[in-house]
Amino acid sequence: MEVIIQPDAESAGLLAARIVASVIRDKPHAVVGFPTGSTPIPFYAHLVRMHREEGLDFSRITTFNLDEFVGLPHDHPASYHAYMDKHLIRHVNVARDRVHIPDGMAADIPSYCRKYEDDIRTAGGIDIQILGIGPDGHIGFNEPTSSLGSRTRIKTLTRQTRRDNAVEFGSEDKVPFHVLTMGVGTILDSRMILLLAFGAKKAEIVARTVEGPVAALVPASALQLHPQTVFLLDEPAAAGLSKIDYYRYVYEHKPDWQKY
Ligand code: GLP
Repeated sequence: MEVIIQPDAESAGLLAARIVASVIRDKPHAVVGFPTGSTPIPFYAHLVRMHREEGLDFSRITTFNLDEFVGLPHDHPASYHAYMDKHLIRHVNVARDRVHIPDGMAADIPSYCRKYEDDIRTAGGIDIQILGIGPDGHIGFNEPTSSLGSRTRIKTLTRQTRRDNAVEFGSEDKVPFHVLTMGVGTILDSRMILLLAFGAKKAEIVARTVEGPVAALVPASALQLHPQTVFLLDEPAAAGLSKIDYYRYVYEHKPDWQKY
């Protein structure tokens, strides 16, 4: 695990975009896993800017999103289809037929989820998966007690996660109970993982994720088992880490050839 601490969300978002851009430049057919939430917004803004100003080419990549609400039409403003269109898809030259976002309107959910897994495999597996983290340690929508070996499937949101999402829907009672999400096992199959966490309200869960025991109660802690995960944090989100001085020291002394 590598922990990189940046002064603020803006510079962390820029570094995340640089890392993803270098994956795409090295491998134009890269398969990229995308997240939603407020955290990745500066990251998407930089990807869009790099497309416009630096010619970053998305035309051959394939994308897979982590999750979506069950029962929401794609054009619902709170859907992750709408989020991705707003923050990335409409601004860059990605091929629409290679954009995959779980379909919350799927009629046969179990077979749809199996197909989502098959589509990831057929595309060659995810080269880089970007993640946010919920305050309870969820990644994608893998709520606490999700199996650490889970695959894409339906999940029931906790009361707190429904509350946290109420703003997007206007009120809590409009937030769906169910979502489709890649599993923890699906996420762990990605070749590289980049988790972004910003702000003091994420400090406690970041510390439990990086330095606590691996446990289904903190699904993100499963990332400790992954061979190439980078935690990209701003200062407030890193404040609870007991080894913070060591992470800074490692980053300062990183060999040039390993730098992003
Ligand atoms: C939702 C998403 C997660 C995301 C989380 C954190 O639950 N399904 O993928 O990580 O929100 O959201 P935010 O970045 O707004 O804190």
